[in-house]
Amino acid sequence: MPNLRTQVAIIGAGPAGLLLGLSLRASGVDSIIVEHSSADQVLGRVRAGVLEQSSAETLTRLGLGERMTAEGIRSDRIFLQAAGRRHHIDFGALIDRRVTLYGQQEIERDLLAAHERAGSAIYFDAEAVAVHDIEGGQPRVSFEHDGATHEITADFIVGADGIDGVCRRSIPRQEITLFDRAYPFAWLGVVAEVPPSTEGSIYALHDDGFAMLAPQSAHVSRLYLQVDPHELVANFSDARIWQELQLRLSTPGFTLVEGPILSKVITPMRALVASRLGYGHLFLIGDAGHVLPPTGAKGLNAAIGDVAILSAGLVAHFGGSDIRLAGYSDEALRRQWLMQQFAQWMTELLHRTPSSSILTAPAADFNYQSQLARIDYIGRSVHAQSSLAEQYTGLPF
Ligand code: FAD
Ligand code: PHB
Repeated sequence: MPNLRTQVAIIGAGPAGLLLGLSLRASGVDSIIVEHSSADQVLGRVRAGVLEQSSAETLTRLGLGERMTAEGIRSDRIFLQAAGRRHHIDFGALIDRRVTLYGQQEIERDLLAAHERAGSAIYFDAEAVAVHDIEGGQPRVSFEHDGATHEITADFIVGADGIDGVCRRSIPRQEITLFDRAYPFAWLGVVAEVPPSTEGSIYALHDDGFAMLAPQSAHVSRLYLQVDPHELVANFSDARIWQELQLRLSTPGFTLVEGPILSKVITPMRALVASRLGYGHLFLIGDAGHVLPPTGAKGLNAAIGDVAILSAGLVAHFGGSDIRLAGYSDEALRRQWLMQQFAQWMTELLHRTPSSSILTAPAADFNYQSQLARIDYIGRSVHAQSSLAEQYTGLPF
């Protein structure tokens, strides 16, 4: 059985795990990454990429910014829309901050290329990944690879294995609480071969529910529709999707350009935060510790923020000081809850909550009228817009 030894064993080669490996390496701390999918599967996951200014700065600081700077779109605005009126939220003019639109799969491509150049140890296609002795002094990771059982002994194990990974589940139940919330709606997301119809993403509330247009590049846009969580993709023909998008995104004088739809997927809306991101010698980063509804565009940014805090703590530990590492969970959770309340606010602002056994039809209608008024207020108030802009582009604290 091959026995390996490293300072930090990282489970998961998503953006969080790959970035942590590079960040540690830049400070002379070694790691081994274990991933259960293949490299192609990791690169094949198409997800959004709205990078807060500080996330883009973190990538640049680590020498990962070259392609992002050349190919990403620096965006200084979004549009909020309701009742046929579109409000321009101009981050540049309001607070002189911006976001960078750069697909998550492109970031993963850059991270993997950097690992390849550095000759990092990454085990893709690992099976039966398990963690052991996370409370004691000799934490270990075992896995099957190429027909052999491998074991890594490490000083620390980091769970970067996403929402369904093994790491969070290996913390004893009585030691962790999950704050979990499922929303009564989902997003039907499509990638379409169409040039941007606007210069920034449009978030729209409509009688029929939420719709969104997110330009991705000169030729491709992502578009989203609020749908019932039990809906099937098969029920949405291209014609039906364009019809719904045209209806929900329409404003006087605006033309939504249509084109071939390349992919369709329904994603449930969920929020989850673990009560702790550290237990013994195990730490959780990214979606392994928390999941945000996509309305605030924060998931990837939260993962990058965790990496920055944990990496500094681990480097300080190996340099002889444990104060920062001991504070990792509290600091990352403080930032996480600030992101969660923003994502929740955006989600509740922009979706129609269906009536249910808990929410009567008159109460649902009341909420909708109140949401319309709130969007009207944001459209008129520079203070409300500045708060939105500050949170969307990333809080400086
Ligand atoms: P993941 O990307 O989930 O990576 C986890 C990795 O661990 C995977 O490679 C997985 O294969 C691996 N793994 C899992 N289990 C095991 C195991 N047992 N052993 C070994 N490996 C394992 N965020 C934003 O910031 N902005 C956005 O605009 C945005 N839009 C989104 C749109 C959609 C439709 C979705 C689904 C998400 C969106 N997100 C967005 C969220 C963002 O994609 C995630 O927050 C981000 O991928 C988290 O990165 P991660 O590395 O923590 O987890
Ligand atoms: C996207 O680019 O697909 C995207 C942008 C912003 C969001 C969600 C998704 O809030």
